[in-house]
Amino acid sequence: MAELIVRGSNPLFGEVSIGGRKNSALAVIPATMLASGTSTLSNLPAISDIATYSSILQHFGATVQKPCNSTMRIDTSNISPGKSPPLKLVKTIRASYYVLGALLGRCGYARVGLPGGCDIGQRLIDQHLKGFRALGAEITIEHGEVVVEASRLEGAHIYLDVASVGATINIVLAAVLARGTTVIENTAREPHIADVASCLNSMGARVVGAGTDTIKIHGVEELHPTKHAIIPDEIEAATYAIAGAVTGGDVTLLNVVPKHMDAAIAKLREAGIAVDENGDSIRVACRSRPKAVGVKTLPYPGFPTDAMPPMMVLLSVANGTSVVSEGIFENRFNHVDEMQRFGASIRVEGRTAVIEGVDHLYGTSVQAENLRAGAALLILGLAARGTTTISCIEHVDRGYEHFEEKMREIGADVSRAREEDESWENDHIPTDGEGTRRMVNAYSNRFDDQV
Ligand code: EPU
Repeated sequence: MAELIVRGSNPLFGEVSIGGRKNSALAVIPATMLASGTSTLSNLPAISDIATYSSILQHFGATVQKPCNSTMRIDTSNISPGKSPPLKLVKTIRASYYVLGALLGRCGYARVGLPGGCDIGQRLIDQHLKGFRALGAEITIEHGEVVVEASRLEGAHIYLDVASVGATINIVLAAVLARGTTVIENTAREPHIADVASCLNSMGARVVGAGTDTIKIHGVEELHPTKHAIIPDEIEAATYAIAGAVTGGDVTLLNVVPKHMDAAIAKLREAGIAVDENGDSIRVACRSRPKAVGVKTLPYPGFPTDAMPPMMVLLSVANGTSVVSEGIFENRFNHVDEMQRFGASIRVEGRTAVIEGVDHLYGTSVQAENLRAGAALLILGLAARGTTTISCIEHVDRGYEHFEEKMREIGADVSRAREEDESWENDHIPTDGEGTRRMVNAYSNRFDDQV
């Protein structure tokens, strides 16, 4: 199994260029299926989830080319909703659920396995299905697959019981080609919802209000292909900001939208970290021990749940006692046991964690439980004295591009231990960190051949 080996206590200095936002890219890629023809997406992150999504689209008949690491051309002329991808592939990622909305919108039929993704809570999709039903779709769940079908979707008034990011985007995807107007209330407001809407509008859709809690969609007859650049990933940016701060360093994040990071920036400043915004860059410097703060994760514009595990690392070495409460997922503290191996002092009660800041952390051997937990463990390793080994690093490859390379560029002492089993080459589903990394490269090469 691939591992990361981290030697701690180096302050991080320098510049990091932030890639495209994972959760935006994973919605915009299936959105291209709503039109026939070739769309070009740029500023895509070089992560394994994107390679997985390309593979899913290819199962439905799309042709995918990748002229460079961050650009993808997707030809959706021959999409056929009947060719559902293997469950094993679909379960690798969460965002496979967007195929349902996109194919339902374009073809009136979709059959896709129930999604997977990080194990951080129940992660229901009832609101997605409620929205599809309101638009006139019939839904059945058979053999682990969701089947949605409708002869013609009709605009509807939909109130979401939960301001779900996934349900908001999925219902928008289905509604853009429905007859009449759809109004969705209590929608999620994350910036990537506006990014997906802006991509859809550039394809000829009429989506109004994305980024607010009410979205109105005036259905159109047809969409056309587009060119769209993905917005920057604020969770990747927050991760490097926290890594810089925890190590007592001085790191500048390039290609960011500071406005999207308001909550994280405010919390870092409250903790005594200097944060200077300058156009599309942010400089983060920590000149003294961080202060304890309270953090509550909430839907945007609240503090993002995806930045909570890294933030807990900062608080584990802060001066004083911090309280962190998780407002989105019921099981998002599953990295705490591993954090304690470093000497962090954390008590979890339900959805609340009480963190007593300690003077020093010590390197150890740990296992990444999921994407953001894995990133948090790497930051712990950077802050700790001695050497840390992190296994199951494939989780991190799902969402952070060139993670250890970017960390090394700012002074981190991180290396990846190669595994001996090369069986990944016969299976393009991620099974381990090195396999995933090489899989992304293999995809890039395959796409290069097609250009
Ligand atoms: N929920 C329902 N019913 C639904 C949908 C959601 O009850 O139909 C509940 C969930 O159980 C959860 C809460 O609502 O407790 C929030 O779920 P949401 O649908 O907003 O999240 P998601 O679509 O499952 C996306 C991101 C997550 C991110 C959350 C919140 C993708 C692929 N995933 O998940 O990203 O944490 O929104 O912002 O976009 C990550 O990147 O590490 C990650 C986990």
